[in-house]
Amino acid sequence: MLLTREEMTFDFGGAKLDPTKDRELLEWMCNQFLYGEVTGIQVGHWLYEAPDFDAAKFLARQALEELQHVDNFLRIMAMLGCQPKPAHGAVRFLATGMMGSSWAEHVALEMAQGEGFVLQAFYAVIDTLDHKPSVDILRRAVKQEERHVEFGETQTMKAIEGKPWLRRRLLGLSLVSMWGVKKIAAYIEKRVPPGHVVLEKLPAFLEHANRCAELRLQRIGVLDRPLSELGSAKRAALVAEAYGGKLLGGIGGLVVSLARMLPFVPKKKRLTDTYLADAHIRGYLPPPQDAEAQPQEP
Ligand SMILES: [Fe+2]
Ligand SMILES: [Fe+2]
Repeated sequence: MLLTREEMTFDFGGAKLDPTKDRELLEWMCNQFLYGEVTGIQVGHWLYEAPDFDAAKFLARQALEELQHVDNFLRIMAMLGCQPKPAHGAVRFLATGMMGSSWAEHVALEMAQGEGFVLQAFYAVIDTLDHKPSVDILRRAVKQEERHVEFGETQTMKAIEGKPWLRRRLLGLSLVSMWGVKKIAAYIEKRVPPGHVVLEKLPAFLEHANRCAELRLQRIGVLDRPLSELGSAKRAALVAEAYGGKLLGGIGGLVVSLARMLPFVPKKKRLTDTYLADAHIRGYLPPPQDAEAQPQEP
């Protein structure tokens, strides 16, 4: 990876999340991660678009890993007594509404940046959650996520070589993703109980995550200067150019992307819409009356 574990690590100063006292928060977090892992079904789409055999093999393996990660979170949620609930709208927007319309967008936005951000959140949970069985599961999964991020980085570097217009487009779209992350941060911040040892550090953690995202964009070669040197007019122009490029690249694709974001537009139901009612998911989780039970060892 272009960023090390150390660089991506945020110092929570030894603060811990308590599996019982913080169950409501852990349930919310797990449900966002669960949705993210279910979006692993999208890997099937990209397998069909793979530029070469090695990339296809990587994606076939990744699809299996993401579906295993769904089971990982189901096991963690069952142990912590958490219930399945819908993911936040901004998470759904980032993971599904922003689904790339080209290979370059997929590897840059979803794998290098998106999975990079999720990886950082996993590191944070590993460092703070005071529940060894859950942390052990996450420790094994992050090895795979690190490989997904690395693949995204290398493939993005290949894709933008000699294509400054693509570099600008990916930067514009990355700015939209970062805006989505800020929306999630604002949502969480509003709900932070005063005096919570971990949550009070969340704004600083998210700031750190954004700095890492910026650093990754620079190391990949998508960004050639610090973001602070890009004024708001330049940023707006990059976003407009990115979406204008999408428009020129195919009205159909843009309409599909926009339609994915609108809940009232009828669309084919996929597992990302139906997973909460799926027998596999329901079979893993404790019935509602057990939700108050103490966290269980596996
Ligand atoms: Fe995953
Ligand atoms: Fe992944």
